[in-house]
Amino acid sequence: MAAVSAPTATTILPGPDSVIHLFDITVRRGPSVLLDAVRWNVDADQRWVILGPNGAGKTTLLQIAAAQLHPTSGRAHVLGARLGAVSLAEIRPLIGISSAALANRVPPMEKVLDVVVSAGYGVLGRWRERYDELDFDRANELLEAMGVAPLAARHYGTLSEGERKRVLAARALMTDPELLLLDEPAAGLDLGGREDLLRRLSTLADDPAAPATVLVTHHVEEIPTAFTHLLLLRQGRVVTAGPISQTLTADALSETFDMKLDLQTRDGRYFAHAKNS
Ligand SMILES: Nc1ncnc2c1ncn2[C@@H]1O[C@H](COP(=O)(O)OP(=O)(O)OP(=O)(O)O)[C@@H](O)[C@H]1O
Ligand SMILES: [Mg+2]
Repeated sequence: MAAVSAPTATTILPGPDSVIHLFDITVRRGPSVLLDAVRWNVDADQRWVILGPNGAGKTTLLQIAAAQLHPTSGRAHVLGARLGAVSLAEIRPLIGISSAALANRVPPMEKVLDVVVSAGYGVLGRWRERYDELDFDRANELLEAMGVAPLAARHYGTLSEGERKRVLAARALMTDPELLLLDEPAAGLDLGGREDLLRRLSTLADDPAAPATVLVTHHVEEIPTAFTHLLLLRQGRVVTAGPISQTLTADALSETFDMKLDLQTRDGRYFAHAKNS
């Protein structure tokens, strides 16, 4: 009888540089399988894009990476901690996240500068926490880096969609996280706003001191040039994952979106459209 090859220890356990390590994780809700046997490793110096259609499981995957959700089965390590074995409160401050769920929870009357500075306490809605000048300096710097410094004194509820995205990206960076998770940071931005944000994210990704980063999007046009790796997700399953140069092909993209797509590359950027057949 042929020997069945068992997974080696290195595939089951995270390596020394691993920031996210998922081994055969599954997430089920009733009869629905949201994530199905996902294996994924993110090292500290990598910048990943998760790309897939609506409902593919991208946000669910990001919730696992954010230590906000436990898998139904399988092993998940985030920042060296096994989910389920440690208090998630210990690792959450090390993770910066920007998502639609978070955006909806910000009180509309919150001042923009406070939305950013309050990340230091992991709270939304500033109350009686005490911050010092250095905290406010850092928050202002991050708003500047995201191109929204003039909005610091405005109420969050008065901002446009695109302005909110930038403020939340600044907030995600406030704690100097070891892992940065951005769920559709460019959604709702106009063309100029998108290009500007992508340039800023590219500059950040290029910085060796920047945290490991995962960006979720539906569009290859939203892959910042300095990002290194890609995971294509379809119906809860990984289509392919690895360095962008090897994984982003017209065939893999067509399989992911279940339609024949053409892919073009120019100056480190990607463009996709339906194939004229
Ligand atoms: N509690 C739940 N019960 C059943 N199905 C759920 C539950 N939560 C999420 N889902 C389903 O799981 C699938 C994956 O959801 P998820 O939000 O991860 O997708 P996504 O890839 O982020 O989609 P989008 O691009 O639209 O944001 C969706 O089909 C969603 O309807
Ligand atoms: Mg989503």
